[in-house]
Amino acid sequence: MRIELLPPEVKSRISSGEVIEGPAEVVKELLENSLDAGATSIVLEVVKGGKRFISVADNGMGIHPQDMEKAILSGATSKLKSLEDLYRIRTYGYRGEALHAIASVSRLILRSRYFQEEHGFELVVEGGRVISSKPVGMQVGTQVEVYNLFYNVPLRRNFLSREDTERARIYKVFKALALANPHVAFRVVSEGKEAYRLKPAGSMKERVEELLEEKVEELSFEDGPIRISMFISLKQTRGELYLFINRRHVRNRNLTEYIKSLVGGKKLCVCSVEMPSYMVDVNMHPKKTEVKLHKENLVKELLRRAVGRRNYYSLPALKQEPARYVFEPELIGIIDDTLIVAKYGDYIYFFDQHLLSERYHYELGKEADTACRSSCKAGDRLTRVQAQELLQRWLHFENKEVCPHGRPSITGYTLESFIRSLEGATECWQGE
Ligand SMILES: Nc1ncnc2c1ncn2[C@@H]1O[C@H](COP(=O)(O)OP(=O)(O)OP(=O)(O)O)[C@@H](O)[C@H]1O
Ligand SMILES: [Mg+2]
Repeated sequence: MRIELLPPEVKSRISSGEVIEGPAEVVKELLENSLDAGATSIVLEVVKGGKRFISVADNGMGIHPQDMEKAILSGATSKLKSLEDLYRIRTYGYRGEALHAIASVSRLILRSRYFQEEHGFELVVEGGRVISSKPVGMQVGTQVEVYNLFYNVPLRRNFLSREDTERARIYKVFKALALANPHVAFRVVSEGKEAYRLKPAGSMKERVEELLEEKVEELSFEDGPIRISMFISLKQTRGELYLFINRRHVRNRNLTEYIKSLVGGKKLCVCSVEMPSYMVDVNMHPKKTEVKLHKENLVKELLRRAVGRRNYYSLPALKQEPARYVFEPELIGIIDDTLIVAKYGDYIYFFDQHLLSERYHYELGKEADTACRSSCKAGDRLTRVQAQELLQRWLHFENKEVCPHGRPSITGYTLESFIRSLEGATECWQGE
């Protein structure tokens, strides 16, 4: 894969800015580059919390000898060519900024041997300027060494935190990437001592348990192209939550709050969502830590289904067998030609027949007001087949809960709430 400079019109549309604030960002960028290069084994070494020295060595595909100097230019990347590529991006990188940003504020050595070459090349760069370039003998792969971060930006250097704080940040970044890439072996050496050694894990569960030292239960749910895997500690230990979307460790307040509401705040929870790239906008923030999901409600729904009936709060768990779901909403009945009652997953839904059909017609492309007039009203007789058809369509609505005017058209109750209320009710019946 050869490196090219992004055309200006593409570069200007890519969110870039301050990418390097300290050693942890350097580590994140270098590890991501190694992973993008298909490395199966990565060694990270830091000295003085990364302030003095950071090195990342991998066995990935390497950089073509003619691309070595290009790699440190702004907007130079082998991962993206046009804006459309952003909709299918599967690599961590795409801005062509990281090496440039790091090289401008440090003394950097880039060594790399391309997989089709007999030997490697070494580039020495100071404050962004190439000092020397020569062939070296080495294995296929890449090694980047970063000395004295911000040596030429004293203001930044003075703003770095204490060594152990920076080290803790580095470990956090490393852990997230190691969790998201269980099949990759990692070794971390800090101040000359081995801090982590991870052999390739067979599964994410295995990696989670080894790295976070906690036994977890795995819950998963899949619907169409979206796959959810959750790993939740068996014990109430620490409230720690990792959210990955397509292997990217991301912040998304909405989703993390939702996950917490499902599993409680005292569990360790690693949650990984795999979905088509076009549903995820990663180009929101130069550091790519915020993403926008185009199907956020659907993802929430699937998360809830993954957790299923498990109750991480006070109630004793109902049934612990893995949840099996019928994906089709199941029509239970139509009440007074007004309400459609259906079971979907663990929920019982009550639909306003009129509003649902209005929404259906609206989706068919009509104007909201005509939709209103041409829809069946409460009181119109619907056949079961027609009702089932409406439910089928409802599944694919973007914003399922409302009619075209924004009025709520559905109420849902969990089956569990019914069961609970019935448990309370049995005594009365027995009393009669
Ligand atoms: N460890 C590596 N192995 C192989 N190639 C690498 C490695 N690190 C960097 N490169 C090459 O150098 C290019 C520039 O890297 P850089 O990190 O600056 O940009 P990027 O990864 O393309 O995008 P981003 O700025 O979003 O990280 C990459 O596109 C890649 O071709
Ligand atoms: Mg990169």
